[in-house]
Amino acid sequence: MSTTSKPATRSGAVTVIVLAAGGGTRMKSKTMKVLHPISGRTMIGHVLDAVASLRPHRVVAVVGNQREQVGPHIQELLPEAVLAVQETQDGTGHAVRVAWEALDPADRTGTVLVAYGDTPLLEGESLRAFAEDHVAAGRGVSILSGVVANPHGYGRVLRDAAGEVTGIVEQKDATEEQRAVCEINSGILAFDAEFLDGALSRLTNDNANGEYYLTDTVQLAREDGLPVGAFPIEDVLQTEGANDRAQLAALAKEKNRRILDRWMREGVTIIDPDTTWIDVDVRLEQDVTILPGVQLLGATVVAEDAVVGPDSTLKDVEVGAGAHVVRTHGELAVIGAKANVGPFTYLRPGTELGAGGKIGGFVETKNARIGDGAKVPHLSYVGDAEIGEGTNIGAGTIFANYDGVEKHRTVVGRHARTASNNTFVAPVHIGDGAGTGAGSVIREDVPPGALAVSAGPQRNIEGWAVRRRQGTAQAEAARAAGSEATED
Ligand code: UD1
Ligand code: CA
Repeated sequence: MSTTSKPATRSGAVTVIVLAAGGGTRMKSKTMKVLHPISGRTMIGHVLDAVASLRPHRVVAVVGNQREQVGPHIQELLPEAVLAVQETQDGTGHAVRVAWEALDPADRTGTVLVAYGDTPLLEGESLRAFAEDHVAAGRGVSILSGVVANPHGYGRVLRDAAGEVTGIVEQKDATEEQRAVCEINSGILAFDAEFLDGALSRLTNDNANGEYYLTDTVQLAREDGLPVGAFPIEDVLQTEGANDRAQLAALAKEKNRRILDRWMREGVTIIDPDTTWIDVDVRLEQDVTILPGVQLLGATVVAEDAVVGPDSTLKDVEVGAGAHVVRTHGELAVIGAKANVGPFTYLRPGTELGAGGKIGGFVETKNARIGDGAKVPHLSYVGDAEIGEGTNIGAGTIFANYDGVEKHRTVVGRHARTASNNTFVAPVHIGDGAGTGAGSVIREDVPPGALAVSAGPQRNIEGWAVRRRQGTAQAEAARAAGSEATED
């Protein structure tokens, strides 16, 4: 969780209540709605991150549906969060009452912010500005509102002739005239704790949904003579929730667009933002270039002047300064400065390529340390291996690490030169400066500086095609070239 050193508001403690008990049935998923990921983090993870940046005094998360999935996830992301269980989903007012009861009475002071767990674009800065406005205005309740083109389904913010907020009416309870209002309740509300403490037990479920509406607190505050008001957020997408997979995709696209925008403003070249996906925890340095069709996922880090793409997926990969990574799929790998990887290369976990090294086309690596300037240029599998600096591995080499039962390591020393189409049968050690012949199967250690040749001497069986492939094009060609049938 990212945190800043600024306190939550200029005036005192903030308690945040995150509602996440709803069913999310429109997702049609085994996975609870708020656990669906966007930009490499769950939806509720994004919300908790925004919330944590306020440095709240307390965070209470209300869970209910699939709480055995949601609860542990929240505890993992924010161990200090209080979990409140809402057994039945009787409305947002009921959910907040459950959260309130889970709080230590001593903590029921200051400002209380209520947010939802399914708004992945929410930013801590917006919450902070809202909370500060609430405190500065000395209100009993503040509404983070938004003006939208299609307000259908939302609670509408009602104002009197003077523009003062008078209440919130839900879609189902609204008159035709009220439904025409385009200022909506985003769902994020701020409360004075003392007012909220009294108001929660005054809520009723006397409405079209038969639910306890948190939004009825606006009316109650007015009855108490407390100021109420709405703080419109310009960037309404920040409070938008994803209720189904189509909305999830739309918000994911928008989140990604924002992440790319930020990196471009930081000095990263992104040739095609439409086909580039970058997770929220990825770090890029200045003058990195991302070519089309690239996904940078997880905790991937790309150092300056590196070029990634086209068509590459890197998850938890470190790319060194000035490296080039072309058409590569990589996971949990480290690529050294000025190294070259690809095209059509598969870097599996534990791959470490040194500075100036190369892992070329149609090469798969796993658990392999490849030294500075070392090269595995073509068509090879390198598993459970160590390759010393400056060594060149010939085309089509297989590091046979698996004997069918156990995996073993191969060590190749510094500045070795191994030839094409070799098999290194692990465990085996090839010394510094050693070499091998083409087609060798290396089962025994090769001492430093030695040339190991394991393929037998070549034997040419004259006239074989003419004799054994009679009537074929091969035999015809051989005969035309002067080959004659001889005895074996
Ligand atoms: C709510 C607001 C509405 C606002 C809209 C914004 C109320 C009465 N209405 O409506 O004014 O415009 O959000 O999206 O507050 N939840 C629980 N427990 C419950 C009910 C809900 O935890 O018993 C959680 C849900 O998981 C969800 C959030 O609260 O995260 C909102 O619930 P939802 O049912 O989506 O509220 P709306 O009817 O959309
Ligand atoms: Ca909703």
